Amino acid sequence: MEGRDLVRSVKVVGSARAAQGLRTLRAAWRRRRSDAVGLPPRGAERARVPGLVQDAEPGPGGGVIRFGRSELRITVTVTGAVFWGWDGAGPEPSYALAGRCPEPDPRVVLEPDKDGGWRVVAERVTIVVSRHGAVEVCTPGGVTLRRDLPPRWWEPVAGGTARWMQRSEVAADARFFGLGGRASGLRLRDGSYRLWNTDPGHAFGRGDDPLYLTMPVQFVVADAGAHLMFHDTSWDGTVTLREGEEGAGSGHDRAGRCELRMDGGPLRCWVVVGTPARVLHAWASLTGAPALPPAWALGHHHARWGFGSEQEVRRIVAGYQERGLPLDAVHLDIDHYDAHQVFTVDQERFPKLPVLAEELRRDGIRLVSIVDPAVKAAPGNAVYDSGSAVDAFVRDAAGEPVRGVVWPGESVYPDFTHPRVRAWWGALYEERLEQGFAGFWHDMNEPTSFHAFGESTLPRSARHSLEGRGGDHREAHNVYALCMARAGYEGLRERAPQERPFLFSRSGWAGIQRYGGTWSGDVATGWPGLRASLSLVLGLGLCGVPYSGPDIGGFDGSPSPELFLRWFQLGAYLPLFRTHASLRAGRREPWEFGPDVLEHARAALVERRRLLPYFMTLAHLARRTGAPYVRPLWWGAPEDRALRDCEDAFLLGDCFLVAPVLDPGADRRAVQLPRGRWYDTVTEQAYEGPGQVLVDAPRSRIPVLARAGAVVPVRSDDGGLELEVWAPARGRTGGGLVVPDAGDGWGEPEIERYVARWEGRRVVVGRESEEGVSEPPCPVRVRGLG
Ligand code: NOJ
Repeated sequence: MEGRDLVRSVKVVGSARAAQGLRTLRAAWRRRRSDAVGLPPRGAERARVPGLVQDAEPGPGGGVIRFGRSELRITVTVTGAVFWGWDGAGPEPSYALAGRCPEPDPRVVLEPDKDGGWRVVAERVTIVVSRHGAVEVCTPGGVTLRRDLPPRWWEPVAGGTARWMQRSEVAADARFFGLGGRASGLRLRDGSYRLWNTDPGHAFGRGDDPLYLTMPVQFVVADAGAHLMFHDTSWDGTVTLREGEEGAGSGHDRAGRCELRMDGGPLRCWVVVGTPARVLHAWASLTGAPALPPAWALGHHHARWGFGSEQEVRRIVAGYQERGLPLDAVHLDIDHYDAHQVFTVDQERFPKLPVLAEELRRDGIRLVSIVDPAVKAAPGNAVYDSGSAVDAFVRDAAGEPVRGVVWPGESVYPDFTHPRVRAWWGALYEERLEQGFAGFWHDMNEPTSFHAFGESTLPRSARHSLEGRGGDHREAHNVYALCMARAGYEGLRERAPQERPFLFSRSGWAGIQRYGGTWSGDVATGWPGLRASLSLVLGLGLCGVPYSGPDIGGFDGSPSPELFLRWFQLGAYLPLFRTHASLRAGRREPWEFGPDVLEHARAALVERRRLLPYFMTLAHLARRTGAPYVRPLWWGAPEDRALRDCEDAFLLGDCFLVAPVLDPGADRRAVQLPRGRWYDTVTEQAYEGPGQVLVDAPRSRIPVLARAGAVVPVRSDDGGLELEVWAPARGRTGGGLVVPDAGDGWGEPEIERYVARWEGRRVVVGRESEEGVSEPPCPVRVRGLG
């Protein structure tokens, strides 16, 4: 096995960076040796279950239920989110929580249940605990949404952390979503999903799992309701899912099943029940409001590994400008560093970066910098020297700095789980700001070390501060990127206090949205990669991370003109709209694929720019409510089973349904409509939902449908604000929200509410406020009257 791995990975690494081969081999041996001496052998283990219930003690928001061999603490908080923890586990400390744990709900009661069990009764949920320690989550009407069987632990006899397993059942009709960014979604089919942030080491496709950003967050949707289940444990683990089956009225339904096996960490979880909107609202209040991007970050970004010089950057920008194509940001990859060292600039090829940045900014284009966590282990490298001076780098169990291999060669890794290290790292962004960068792209932060065999990350025995508690990489690995994002975000807040930090990160964990967004990573060029791009963005949104997007066109190889175009057209409706590709990949500029593609890509770019006020409104709403910009079709109707199984279309806020073309050769496609009237935004043809309709999808566009009654803020031809209103069905009203945004800064604009209604043969729009309904302050264009 190892030999095969070795050959495969040497090939991968070799093709990526032949000269690193020997180093990766050495690093792999070092990793293996340090785990052998730095981790206690597991040895014999003792299995344990909670045993029989003994007694219970009420406490704020619930109480503690004691069993023969464990105890269960349950707290329902004022946000409606329910916490429970076994073996005395409390909600803190936690990397997922935004701040302090929310207050317990004082109205909640703990009372005896049948057969010696107990139940916790709250306004929106009842938790029923059996005498053996099974825990059921029920609606107030008594319908069970989830049943967790009594957990099981395996404790090393010689001491150390226990492994544990939790089996759960959900309704036969339930569907699973989430678990972070998964290429195989949106709906998570039967199979195992690992919880260990991983750089797959190659461009990934639908079957690759895990990827860069995993999290133990399940979003489960069933007829009886939706719930989110979060196991607050950052250790390695595996979730095995099996969807249920209905017995076609025979009464022999087979429940859906989920089995979670964790290598360690506390057995504690949070559950939120309710409509999808309510669930994500509560989740955002628990784990933090999504960071608000500056307006420019909602425009079009062009990235490339290997621009290689200022001249090339200017050439690309000129290409956009000469053709009148909107462009808002250009990203510089590791090739602008001096010998691949983070926080440096290659002065030969980028001699006047601040001048370039300033000139681009005058044209409305921002520069974004890649930031890798690994620091070249070489005295004389200023980041290495200053980091060593504050003891910033991860050490092994013997106290030696851990060395891995990344782009610059042998490297060390900052321990972002230490507040002092975060402060040191955050200060390094000063240099980036001086170079003129306005945004930051965190990469390789799973963290990755090129591997000749074994794992492509740090040894599990590597020591981490974990905020002073102390621990090793088994616990710190999955929160490494989250802590790096915090360091960057806080550093930027301090150094550029007037500006909203713009940061997005390849890896992360529950709560990453507090600091920024993410992107797909190296999605493989091909039609399956296009599909994976959509499932990643949608799945992450359901885990509370609303801002993300794919490498348009795929990371590697050369997409056909058709594939590039369809990817571009999809990307125009996703929060992060960015073309990017690898060093050796083919071109990704829209004009490189022939005149037709150029014209259709232009239309997508122009439409994105027109929709910018709407995207900005969605960003504000995401921050205030946790609702992702991009939502599965079942968002407003989780009980609609046809929508629950639909994975090839999505809602963009409340107003639009976007149906991308995900297959070659298509010029029409079927679209599953939620209830109500929907207009094709180009032809204005009206369709009635629920049901499936066939719509045109010529090369010039992907189908985008507007909900009847929608009020959408858009940019008018003269750059001002305009309201685009889609006629409500006769006899009905419509409406929408607008959040006017200054583009950057910390102003708290008021949400404007608009209503649309028929008045005779006209549709009129008014702004609602406490004083009544008034004229909108901007022009209104009514569509769909045809
Ligand atoms: C891996 C990232 O996923 C990719 O986007 C980037 O271009 C390369 N690293 C080089 O920095």
